[in-house]
Amino acid sequence: MMISETLQRARDYEKTNFPLVAEQLPKFHVTGGVGWINDPNGFAPFQGEYHLFYQYHPYETKWGPMHWGHVKTRDFIHWERLPAAMAPDEAYDKDGCFSGGAVEMPDGRHLLMYTGVRTVIGENGENQTFQTQCIAIGDGVNYEKYAGNPVIGTDVIPEGGNTTDFRDPQIWREDGRYYVAVGNRLNAGSSTVLLFQSEDAVHWEFVSKLATCQHPRSNMWECPNFFQLGEEHVLLVSPQDMMAVLPEFHPGNSNLCVMGTYDRESHQLCQERMQSIDYGLDFYAPQTLEALDGRRIMIGWMQNWETSGHVPSGQRFTGQMTIPRELTIRNGRLCQNPVRELENCRCRKVSHQNAMITGETVLEGVRGRFLDLTVTVRPEEGGSLFNWFQIDVARDEDHQTSIRFIPDDNVIRIDRTQSGLPWDIVNVREFPVREDHGRLKLRLILDRYSLEIFVNDGEQAATSIFYTPLEAKDIVFTCKGTARVDMEQYDLEVD
Ligand code: FRU
Repeated sequence: MMISETLQRARDYEKTNFPLVAEQLPKFHVTGGVGWINDPNGFAPFQGEYHLFYQYHPYETKWGPMHWGHVKTRDFIHWERLPAAMAPDEAYDKDGCFSGGAVEMPDGRHLLMYTGVRTVIGENGENQTFQTQCIAIGDGVNYEKYAGNPVIGTDVIPEGGNTTDFRDPQIWREDGRYYVAVGNRLNAGSSTVLLFQSEDAVHWEFVSKLATCQHPRSNMWECPNFFQLGEEHVLLVSPQDMMAVLPEFHPGNSNLCVMGTYDRESHQLCQERMQSIDYGLDFYAPQTLEALDGRRIMIGWMQNWETSGHVPSGQRFTGQMTIPRELTIRNGRLCQNPVRELENCRCRKVSHQNAMITGETVLEGVRGRFLDLTVTVRPEEGGSLFNWFQIDVARDEDHQTSIRFIPDDNVIRIDRTQSGLPWDIVNVREFPVREDHGRLKLRLILDRYSLEIFVNDGEQAATSIFYTPLEAKDIVFTCKGTARVDMEQYDLEVD
C-alpha cells in the first residue's frame, strides 16, 4: 500500500515525539500523544477490537490541516497507539480530512468515511470551500483512499442546503446496506441531517432528511450520531453558534441530544424530547458505538472550541477524549456512566459513613489526583435543609476546582476559576439537577487534567478540564448548614 509523503512525515514525527511527550499525558484519557486533537472519529468495532480515530494535527498544539490519528482498545481503558491513519494528501482533501466514521465491511476490511475539504480561490478572489464525502479502505493500520473519491459530492444536497457546510458522515450497516448520516447547514439558518444509502459504499443515493433542527436557536449541526437505544432512537449533534437556552443549553459550540421515534418508512426521526448531553465546560462532538456485548458506548472530545486556544506553556499536546461512557435511557432521559471496565482500576478504598459536614471538613484518607469518588449527600436527620454543599478537588493553598450543590435552586455550579488557568475564559458553569430534598449522589472521576461528574447514577454528566499542578491533591467538603455524607474513594491505577 502506498503511504504518501504527507502521511509518512506525520508517522516519522510521531515516532520521534511520542516518547518525549509520554510523561505529560493523562493516565487513562485518550490524547493524540503529541500535538492537537479534536473530534473523535470512526469509533467502531473492528475485528474484535474497538478503534478510535480523531481529528489530529501532530505538529503543533493548535488546529491545523487535519489528519486522522489512531488508537485501539479492547476494554476502553488501555489504548494502543497506532500510526496516523490518514493525511490531507489528495486534491479533494488537501485542506483537511475532516470528521467521519468507520465500519467493518462484510469481507473483513475496514472502511473509513470522512469529509474531504478543498478550498480554492474563486473568480471573485474570495476563498471558496468544498466539503465532500470520501472513503478509504484498509486493514486496521494502513488505509488507501478510494481512487474515485469523493463518493458523495455537493450536487446531491437538497434545495436550501448549504454547499459549504456539508460534513461529518456517520456510516453504519443495516439490513445488508450501508447508511450514512451527514450534517448540512440550511441557507435560511439552522441545520438538517441528510441520510443516504448504498449497496457498496461507493454509489450513494439520497434517502431523506433524517432530522431537521427544531431548536429555535442553533446553527449548523456538526457531527451527527444516530442510533437506537432501547425502544427509542437518539440523535446526538453538536450545534455551532447556539444561543443560550438556560438552564439547559449553554451558548456557543453546544451539545444536544434529540430523542424520539424513527419512522422506517419515511426514514425520519419524529423528535419528541431534547436535552443537553453533557452540562460541563468541555464536551463536544461525541460519537457512539455498539460494543460486542450490546452496550451503547459514547466518547466525546473533552474540550471547548472557544477556549481550546489556551495551552499551558511547555505542554506538547492539547485535546483529550472523555472517559468512554455507557448510555441508557431512564425516565425519558439520556443517562451516562463511565464504562464499567474503569472499576477494574480501582484500588485503595477509603470510605466514610454518615459523616457530618458543617463548615470546612476534611475526611481522613480522602485525597488524591487519580480518583473515582462517590459521595451521597443528605440533610441532617430532623435538621433543616443546608444552603449549599461543596466539594473542592485538586486543592492546595493556591488552587481548587469546586462543585457546589445548591438544593434550593436545584443546581450544581462548577467553578474552575482557581484551578491554575491563567486565562479569564469561561470558568464557571451552572446546570440543573433533579433534587430530592437535599439528597444527591455524585460520582467524580479525576485524571491528571480533568474532572468528570456523574449525578444521580448518570442522570447528568458534566465535564471540565483544568491544568492544576499534580501536587494539589486535597479534597475538602464544605457545607453552609449541616449535611451528612456517605462516601467511597478509590485510587485509579492503570498498568
Ligand atoms: C467539529 C468540527 C467538525 C469538522 C471538524 C474539523 O468540532 O468542526 O464539523 O469535521 O471539527 O476539525
